[in-house]
Amino acid sequence: MKPYYITTAIDYTNAPPHIGHAYEKVLADVMARFQRLTGREVFFLTGVDQHGQKVQKSAEKVGLTPQAFVDGITEHFTSLWDKLNVRYDGWAATTDPRHKRVVQAMLQKLHDCGQLYKKGHTGFYSVRQEQFLTDKERGPDGSFGSEWGEVVELEEENWYFKLSDHVEWLKGYIQSHPDFIFPAHRAHDVLNALEGKDLDLCISRPIERLTWGIPLPFDEKFVNFVWFDALTNYISFAGYLAEECGNEGLPDFSKLWPSEAHVIGKDILVPAHAVYWPIMLHALGFSDDQMPRLIVHGWWNMKGAKISKSLGNVIDPNVLADTFTADGLRYYVMRDIATGYDSDFSDERLVMSYNKELAGGLGNLLNRSINMAQKYRSGVLAAGGYDDAENAALRQTVAEALPVYLEKMESWAIHEGIAAAWKIVAHANAFVDSTKPFSLAKDPAQAARLDSVLYHLAEAWVHLSVLLNPIMPDAMATARAQIGWDMPPGFVLSDLKWGMLSNGHQLGSPAPLFPRLEIAAPAA
Ligand code: MSP
Repeated sequence: MKPYYITTAIDYTNAPPHIGHAYEKVLADVMARFQRLTGREVFFLTGVDQHGQKVQKSAEKVGLTPQAFVDGITEHFTSLWDKLNVRYDGWAATTDPRHKRVVQAMLQKLHDCGQLYKKGHTGFYSVRQEQFLTDKERGPDGSFGSEWGEVVELEEENWYFKLSDHVEWLKGYIQSHPDFIFPAHRAHDVLNALEGKDLDLCISRPIERLTWGIPLPFDEKFVNFVWFDALTNYISFAGYLAEECGNEGLPDFSKLWPSEAHVIGKDILVPAHAVYWPIMLHALGFSDDQMPRLIVHGWWNMKGAKISKSLGNVIDPNVLADTFTADGLRYYVMRDIATGYDSDFSDERLVMSYNKELAGGLGNLLNRSINMAQKYRSGVLAAGGYDDAENAALRQTVAEALPVYLEKMESWAIHEGIAAAWKIVAHANAFVDSTKPFSLAKDPAQAARLDSVLYHLAEAWVHLSVLLNPIMPDAMATARAQIGWDMPPGFVLSDLKWGMLSNGHQLGSPAPLFPRLEIAAPAA
């Protein structure tokens, strides 16, 4: 089977990351870890989008070269991914010379097969903002506002891509491939956007206006439009045209492509990912079977409002990870959103999810299970000496959680995958309350039953430590160390069966997995 090739959007490097960027990378990382756990080979690509006008301007403002500027911002992203345990296999930085060579080779190919043409365009141009204005920018009285500064009528030549040649193909492709976009209802947005559209795409910027980009190989007076450059990362870093471009250290494209998951936010579906990208691939000769799949997630908002620098409601994931641990934050951003839909970021919910669900529910279960086993049995488990209906019921909950978890995770319903595992947490906690090991310990006649209770708790935890591993890799590794069991090399989910711990298994020492935080949720 081919490796599971998963990518995320590459992040703009004009500002440091916020919670929305972190969510997307964690989502992809959770899926990558889940796929590895099923035994699939995985190639996970993420990176940074470093070219374009915004970067050039931000760099100018602080008196840095664009490269020095993006290097600084890129560092914020890579250190955050380290901190959050986002484990990628490929790093797509668009200033990488290997990427530039592929972009240029691709442009040349499109040029050679007549897909690109040059034409003049006359329009209103804002000198201050360095961009062409459209009617959308006109005020109610029809004039352009003062924010645009001097506006001049200008004629400019540019290169265009024959997008319109492929619109009919794209419509047909979308209609006949319901799997192309997840969730499926988003395909309507794309089809609506295509209605009545007969526009070609301007893919160049004159060098006088923008130098911070990839030069067109057939016309040195222009650089490539940043989206064309950025989208190409999905193939350039997967080894597309590697031989032709003399690129080394990249995967074998023929084994990796197509990607099974381009994980992107809903804002960049139309037109970039659902129109430009498939059409670019189609024009380059990729067949219908060679189209990638788009996984479109929703947005984290702040009290219903969009998170944005200008609103001043940007949340720094570094600070959150320092307070709640990487796993605490990973858990929250996976638990409180359904993939494909929006969610409201809430400090209160974050504190509650940490203190109640992680410290109180999950961590406490581990702590008391190991504590009791240490106290009553010096941490040594005895298996198989006793059974009853209560034990059987717990085993059944564990067995039933597994297929639900698998199905939900596979279909991107991560929050429901977590909920499936949490059935075990809830049942195991109730099991401690109802079997009362502290009472059983007082009665020598109940020794075998106590052993079975302690064994069932430890065994339930083995399962939890595997199922929750993609979501909270650090905490689950710590939990396995406390249980004294680890996944053997090559371990896959289908190896997970009741009875992983043998008779006489020695548990490790308990320590709080998620120490309770004495903080009140910051006032809303
Ligand atoms: N550079 C382009 C993507 C090019 S992909 C070939 C870009 N960058 S971005 O930095 O603005 O956004 C990166 C990703 O973060 C996008 O998928 C975007 O949807 C996602 N998010 C940005 N803000 C978000 C939230 N508030 N919530 C969830 N995801 C959000 O677009």
